[in-house]
Amino acid sequence: MAAEPPVLLESTGRVAWLVLNRPESRNALNRGTIHALRETLARLREDGEIWAVAVTGAGERAFCAGADLKERRTMNEEQVQDFVASIRGLMDDLASLPQPTVAVMNGAAYGGGLEMALACDLRILDESASVGLTETSLAILPGAGGCARLPRLIGLARAKELILLARRVPAREALEMGLIHRLAPAGGARAAGQALLEELLRNGPLALRAAKRALEAAVDLPLAEALQFEQVCYRSIIPTEDRLEALRAFAEKRPPRFQGR
Ligand code: COA
Repeated sequence: MAAEPPVLLESTGRVAWLVLNRPESRNALNRGTIHALRETLARLREDGEIWAVAVTGAGERAFCAGADLKERRTMNEEQVQDFVASIRGLMDDLASLPQPTVAVMNGAAYGGGLEMALACDLRILDESASVGLTETSLAILPGAGGCARLPRLIGLARAKELILLARRVPAREALEMGLIHRLAPAGGARAAGQALLEELLRNGPLALRAAKRALEAAVDLPLAEALQFEQVCYRSIIPTEDRLEALRAFAEKRPPRFQGR
C-alpha cells in the first residue's frame, strides 16, 4: 500500500485547504512535510482562482507538534542548520502568500506548529487545545519566525513570558491575549474555520490581497511611508471590475458577486 502523503490539498470553492497529514506523529514537521508544503504553496501563490488558503491538521489531538523531534535526533549539526533554514523558508513562503491565510488549529500547536499559525493572517483554535512556543524547554529557541513574529502580535512583555517560560497557553487565555482571533467549539475547528472563510470571502478578493500587503508593510514602515504604500495598494484596485460590481450591488441592494478581476 502506498504511504499516505504528508500534506493533503483539498479545494472547496475558492479556498485551498492544506491538511498536515501525519496524525500519528501529531503532524510534526519533518523534511518531507516541509518540502510538500513549500511545493504546494509555490503553486497556490500563482493560482488566481484560489482566493484564500487554510492550514489545518489531520486527527483531533494536534494541529502541529512542531519540528519532528525523532527525525531531529538523527541529524548532525549541519543537517540541523539546513533543516532550520528550510522551516524558516516555509514560514516565509506562508507569510508572503498573496491570498489571506487562516490557521485552523484543530488541536495543540507547539513550537514550529504555532510559528506556522503566526505566519497566517487569522487564527482559530479548538477551545480544548493549548498553544505555545516551547522551544526553550528543549534547549533551543523559536527559530522559524517565533521570536520575530510573536512580539509584533502580542507585545514584547507577553512574548517574553511565553517564550522564556516555554508556556503552554490554554485556548481561552490565547484569545484574551490576542494570540488567536476565535475559539472553535471542541472538535469543531474545521466547521468554524469554514464559517470564518465564508465570512472572509464575502469581501473582494483583490481588495483582501491589497489590504494584506498594506497591513504587512505598515508594521515595519514609518507612518509617512506606510501611508504612501497604502495609497499604492489602493491605486491597484481602482481599475478592478469587482470595485464597480460592489457599487452596483450597493445601489441595487443585493450582495455583490465578485469575480477576482
Ligand atoms: N516530533 C515527533 N514526534 C512527535 C512530536 C514531535 N514534535 N510530538 C509528538 N510526537 C509523537 C510522540 O512521540 C508519539 O509517538 P509514539 O506513538 O511513537 O510514542 C505520538 O506523536 C503521539 O504523541 P503523544 O504525546 O502520545 O500525543 P498526545 O496527543 O498525548 O499529545 C502533544 C500531543 C502535541 C501535546 C505532545 O505530543 C507534545 O507535547 N509533543 C511535543 C511538542 C513540542 O514540544 N514541540 C516543540 C518542538 S520544537
